[in-house]
Amino acid sequence: MHASGLNPVSRDQPSPPLWLLAELTYRCPLQCPYCSNPVDFARSSEELSTAQWIDVFKQARALGAAQLGFSGGEPLVRQDLTELVQAACDLGFYTNLITSGVGLTKMRVAELSEAGLDHIQISFQAADETVNNMLAGSRKAFAQKLAMARAVKAHGYPMVLNFVTHRHNIDQIDHIIELCIELDADFVELATCQFYGWAKLNRAALLPTREQLTRAEAVTQHWRQKLAAQNHPCKLIFVTPDYYEERPKACMNGWGSLFLDITPDGTALPCHSARQLPIDFPNVKTHSLQYIWQESFGFNKYRGFAWMPEPCRSCAEKEQDFGGCRCQAYMLTGNADNADPVCSKSKHHEVILAARETAQQAPLGLDNMVFRNEKMSNIIIKG
Ligand code: FES
Repeated sequence: MHASGLNPVSRDQPSPPLWLLAELTYRCPLQCPYCSNPVDFARSSEELSTAQWIDVFKQARALGAAQLGFSGGEPLVRQDLTELVQAACDLGFYTNLITSGVGLTKMRVAELSEAGLDHIQISFQAADETVNNMLAGSRKAFAQKLAMARAVKAHGYPMVLNFVTHRHNIDQIDHIIELCIELDADFVELATCQFYGWAKLNRAALLPTREQLTRAEAVTQHWRQKLAAQNHPCKLIFVTPDYYEERPKACMNGWGSLFLDITPDGTALPCHSARQLPIDFPNVKTHSLQYIWQESFGFNKYRGFAWMPEPCRSCAEKEQDFGGCRCQAYMLTGNADNADPVCSKSKHHEVILAARETAQQAPLGLDNMVFRNEKMSNIIIKG
């Protein structure tokens, strides 16, 4: 612990932003109801230019950033993606494309590979074509994803698949895993929905029951054992939702600790959801990344432990979980300083218990969900 009472990620000497996320655009051909983009994304149609992004990469690299994720929205809608990947690779970043696969072609895979892209992750909505396409809002999405997952693998990349699970597809986890094996996947992330952005809006329709989760975890464990017995290389990663935990997650490994997110318009955030907080976050168009990371108010606001009220301040676990997620505290208690209400020590923990109870008692169907698109975003903005 630092003499000032702060952890090593202190106002004096923050550690480098090792993981840079470039949210290149909020444009996306799909409309997943669990998208983590802000629900008011239509407010912000401006995007950094190619040159501005490359300048961000240079500054981040100088600060010590090592890994760069290209995300969105759908990053493939940026016609300059290959140029951006090339620039990032030339700077020495380990690069990762996080995509729905829609907009990808065999030729584009080859171009991205030629530019040096290290890693591609393709997300699916379900193992069932009808459910997948319904959730994605595209009749062609599933077939396209299958074709592109195969193309990525054929090009020599490991096949990395991501399935966001929720109450409408988690009972089909068997089929999801079977599809992944059939596709020869190397890594599969079975990530239960996290409730930010559009997913928070649709929480009552998406949160699985505890029974669903328990079963899904058991099925996944069974498959892990089966694959291990066959020496199968596929790794299954199961991510549980924190709504069923009693202690919060160490969100972003601590605020301003290693994660730096740049939104399409250049706003710099310590996590992908922080834009909703009542904090004026800096923009790369007006400030250097060095100032943003080391000096700005927004990035220092929740660094260390001095900001913590009780019960976090005197909690023996604060150095493990940093009080949980500031965005979740804000969304669920109205004050980002509070302990994340996932924690059973939080005086607001009942909001989590109530959400679990709702999941148990009042299942909403797919028809009740608000799909993520510009029209809906504008309606939400107008209130
Ligand atoms: Fe913002 Fe957790 S998502 S701090």
